[in-house]
Amino acid sequence: MNRIYLDYNASTPIAPKVLEAMMPYLTSKFGNPSSSHSFGVECRAAIEQARERVANLLGCEASEIVFTSGATESNNMVIKGIAKAAGKGNHFITSQIEHPAVLEPCRHIERFGYKVTYLPVDKYGLVDPDALAKAIMPDTALISIMHANNEVGTIQDIAGLTKIASSRNVPFHNDAAQSVGKISCRVSELGVDFLTVAGHKFYAPKGVGALYIKRGTKLPPMMHGAGHEHGMRPGTENLASIVGLGAACELAMPLLESEGPRQKKLGQRLFEGLKRAGLNVHLNGHPEKKLPNTWNISFEGHDAAAVMEALGKDIAVSPGAACHGDTVNASHVLVAMGVPDKLSRGAIRFSLGRETTEAEIDTVVEKLKQNLKGK
Ligand SMILES: Cc1ncc(COP(=O)(O)O)c(C=O)c1O
Repeated sequence: MNRIYLDYNASTPIAPKVLEAMMPYLTSKFGNPSSSHSFGVECRAAIEQARERVANLLGCEASEIVFTSGATESNNMVIKGIAKAAGKGNHFITSQIEHPAVLEPCRHIERFGYKVTYLPVDKYGLVDPDALAKAIMPDTALISIMHANNEVGTIQDIAGLTKIASSRNVPFHNDAAQSVGKISCRVSELGVDFLTVAGHKFYAPKGVGALYIKRGTKLPPMMHGAGHEHGMRPGTENLASIVGLGAACELAMPLLESEGPRQKKLGQRLFEGLKRAGLNVHLNGHPEKKLPNTWNISFEGHDAAAVMEALGKDIAVSPGAACHGDTVNASHVLVAMGVPDKLSRGAIRFSLGRETTEAEIDTVVEKLKQNLKGK
């Protein structure tokens, strides 16, 4: 059997067109983009073209894009940068279901005297706009709420949340690591001040990302050096990967409309197939307001480890719960959503991608039917 990859939320392969765009910058075009000779100039041009392509996908100005090493760095830049600008003691708001790349910088600043409110979510993983409005205090310096959740795929009503934030003059950061390249992420429609992009979640290489910083928004840099990226992110640019990120953005744009519905159908085929196979499955996350590729499914009566074993090492998925010996720790996302223990312990994230086929889905269903049913 060929291996089956259903873990695209963890990382995607580099798309062939992306690799093709990168190759010259890994070989013949190697100049330092800051150099004024032609070796440098051609590389600078490639970076600026990539910046345009990222900006096109997000619907912003190229000058509002800063290249980073990925989502973790972009998130840290915003949270720690705003903390530094706001001064000790100020207040931050985030949600309980953020990725550690937001939660940990928040916990870090708490240790330095900042206050952080971690908003709860409902059973679908949605933040309540009224709870956000109530949480805002006169010294709230930043709201950081993710776009689509990496585990369950639930998509927040960011436009609704940013209306509340802007009416109270609080800047809004959106970790869109899982949504850029999968669904429309136009910054003007979302109304965000900062938005995080992760290349390897949509067919660009690992170790490259971007941060959208709305024009006129003040953010002190985290690193200091020779002034690259308008002084926001000094250090000689990760040229080939940046070119790859630009190419991935260009590639994603026309696919948004076709791939979303196709992957949603495949996910439905998976869920319905498991039900028909007689397995007691439950979908976690919002049934509609969710990423079309993300299917977090609880197998009632089974631990995640048993489901993973039933799938074998050559079918790649992610467990929604960590098993250590007899102890099963449900993910913080499922706990925040109030998913009962008997379901959260058997949660598996299937995340589909451009290469996923009906045949692969059917193989997965068959394998689980054979290995789990009656156990
Ligand atoms: C929502 C979200 N934010 C941030 C990250 C961190 O991305 P990276 O490890 O590429 O920095 C991830 C990765 O899974 C994610 O899903």
